[in-house]
Amino acid sequence: MKPFPISNARSAILLLALASPLASAATAPSVPERIETLLRQMTLDEMVGQLTQYSGNWNATGPVMFKGNLKQDIRDGRVGSMLNVHGASSTRQYQEVAMQSRLKIPMLFAQDVIHGYKTTFPIPLAEAASWDLAAIERSARIAATEAAASGLHWTFAPMVDIARDPRWGRVMEGAGEDTYLGSKIAFARVKGFQGRQLGDTDAVMATAKHFAAYGAAVGGRDYNSVDMSERMLWETYLPPFKAALDAGAATFMNSFNDLNGIPASGSKYLQRDILKGQWGFTGIVVSDWGSIGEMVAHGYARDNRGAALAAITAGSDMDMESNAYRGNLAQLVADNKVPLALLDDAVRRVLRKKFELGLFDDPYRFSDPQREQTALNNPVHRQAARDMATKSIVLLKNSAKLLPLSKDLKTIAFIGPLVQAHKDNLGGWAVTLPGVDYSTFVVSQWDGLKNRLGSGTRLLYAKGSEIEGDDRSGFAQALEVARQADLVIVSVGERWNMSGEARSRASLRLPGVQEELVKALQASGKPLVVLLNAGRPLVFNWIAENVPTILYTWWLGSEAGNAIADVLTGDVNPSAKLTISFPRSEGQIPIYYNSFNTGRPGPSGVSSGYVSGYIDLAGTPQYPFGFGLSYTEFAYSDLKIDKSQLRGNDRLNVSFQLRNSGNYAGEEVVQLYLRDKTASVVRPLRELKDFAKIRLEPGQTRTVQFQIDREKLSFYNAQLQWAAEPGDFELMVGASAADIRLRTNFELTP
Ligand code: GLC
Repeated sequence: MKPFPISNARSAILLLALASPLASAATAPSVPERIETLLRQMTLDEMVGQLTQYSGNWNATGPVMFKGNLKQDIRDGRVGSMLNVHGASSTRQYQEVAMQSRLKIPMLFAQDVIHGYKTTFPIPLAEAASWDLAAIERSARIAATEAAASGLHWTFAPMVDIARDPRWGRVMEGAGEDTYLGSKIAFARVKGFQGRQLGDTDAVMATAKHFAAYGAAVGGRDYNSVDMSERMLWETYLPPFKAALDAGAATFMNSFNDLNGIPASGSKYLQRDILKGQWGFTGIVVSDWGSIGEMVAHGYARDNRGAALAAITAGSDMDMESNAYRGNLAQLVADNKVPLALLDDAVRRVLRKKFELGLFDDPYRFSDPQREQTALNNPVHRQAARDMATKSIVLLKNSAKLLPLSKDLKTIAFIGPLVQAHKDNLGGWAVTLPGVDYSTFVVSQWDGLKNRLGSGTRLLYAKGSEIEGDDRSGFAQALEVARQADLVIVSVGERWNMSGEARSRASLRLPGVQEELVKALQASGKPLVVLLNAGRPLVFNWIAENVPTILYTWWLGSEAGNAIADVLTGDVNPSAKLTISFPRSEGQIPIYYNSFNTGRPGPSGVSSGYVSGYIDLAGTPQYPFGFGLSYTEFAYSDLKIDKSQLRGNDRLNVSFQLRNSGNYAGEEVVQLYLRDKTASVVRPLRELKDFAKIRLEPGQTRTVQFQIDREKLSFYNAQLQWAAEPGDFELMVGASAADIRLRTNFELTP
């Protein structure tokens, strides 16, 4: 295509810059100068090329729109980045094509490395339940090390969307419902992915996604509209993105949803006013897959030309797979519909990251087969995945103290459709690599327990049922196997791909006849342990009320079987706590812990009279935010605050005693909640403001200390200003949002 003229103004600026004494031949040009030099040489098509990202054909994660000759486009300098190409050799091959282009601008290679690359960690919602920020950061660090060793420069993670609706399949990808915890985890994950500094060959660019409020889709239906108050947006949904930015996130990804009527990809408010303006973000904003072109479907753009205009104007720098920029942006500039300055800014952002990654010095520096081989087969990574998985398993019930498994058990029946599954344990958004045999690479639940128990205990197997369908023919065999056993473990749940993108469910029940299988096994009279595997909260009232022992085992990754065995046998005492409320029914959704009291607060049970609740169901969740049991017990006592009035910028020092009053060493996640009792807008019944994960030996006591400052008392007031208001506060220390162990009050004075 004929190259469009470049503006003379920019040439003049560059000549002045290079003529300055500072730019003498003695000093190498700075990165900004190198960017300007390059920019001046680029045709409009080449500039648009830098803002265009296409998918390779491995595991395409959306509808592939590009229909041309991709390698020719790359040679023509019309592709700035690719996703879904990974591996040292594949990325090198594509980069070699990019080096045939006129200006030899290297491409960026990106991948959804969400919870591990080859070594797969628990899904993010499970990891979040560990409340272990160091372990979460380490998980991202290892994922980055493996990804960067495989030619990747960029991961589309962390997903930091707050989610209060488990019907939405992507709850599996985030940190749950709480903004404070979600912000801490966002920060940790970005730090993990980006490591010491970008440009290190064990670091990848992180992406804070999906900007913004994607988790609040109406009806929990993926890609659906989002409508919320400014206050809700700023108070609940934006903070994790700000935390990711504060952690240095190199890129952001906008979201598919329209927010208050404006598609995020075309939202100037989100991308320019907030992100690039108020927050000063200097990295890249990449669209979600095709989301720019989807503004036509939204009814926000007449055609791809209109979509390209809306997106570039709003601050979407890079177009993933919609062809909108490739086909229209150059002409929009030539037609003076888009100022060249907007293109300059977007291209500078892309080039700046390529310089930061060292790709102009060595385009192949991340594509090193030797380093890849070493990184992808590192036993330390697997041990970290096992450690993370044991920390992610939530003990929901242990009323009969069947766990840890008694060493006297001679025969155990391990029953269910997920017992001998392998790849299912990876859950959604796992990177599946060519040439990896996942039947050996992933430790199944059966393998894990079999290996751990050794020959001393007989382990019997029956599938019992499929995950879906109404075939009960396997029940008889399951019951026969149960009859021979001293204890039965049944592992049931969703299929791995019933959660994740485009995996919203209207029903959260166990699929198929699995609950009937559990009921039949319970009726056999054998001691029963249920493992629930899913990427989201499920609704399993009967099991919750009738089965004595329940572990939530999510999707735990490559080391699932070993981690489950570690917890079942007591080698590891479970310490995880839920970061999303588990509803009793889909009819309660959205249900979350930090709700308002209302003028007619309802009871915890079924309501009657003129109060807020249900006449046919309790108003409380099946399991609340912050809930999780241990094989031991913890006693909380002696809450002290060092002042009853907080003045100005004083800090309130809080302390209490935590004792392991049980028989096992264990870790407790203690949670600090605050309630602002009267304010210019109604405030939640409780809000998580701090937490700590404390390990104690049996009988050991520890003084736990927290500090409350004015920031923790602040919120968006009636004028949407971030401020703390004088008044009374309740301070609560709890083992969960619904299990408050200690309380006190204090006053914030003017
Ligand atoms: C998907 C997802 C996004 C992902 C991207 C690339 O549609 O929404 O999270 O990073 O496309 O796979």
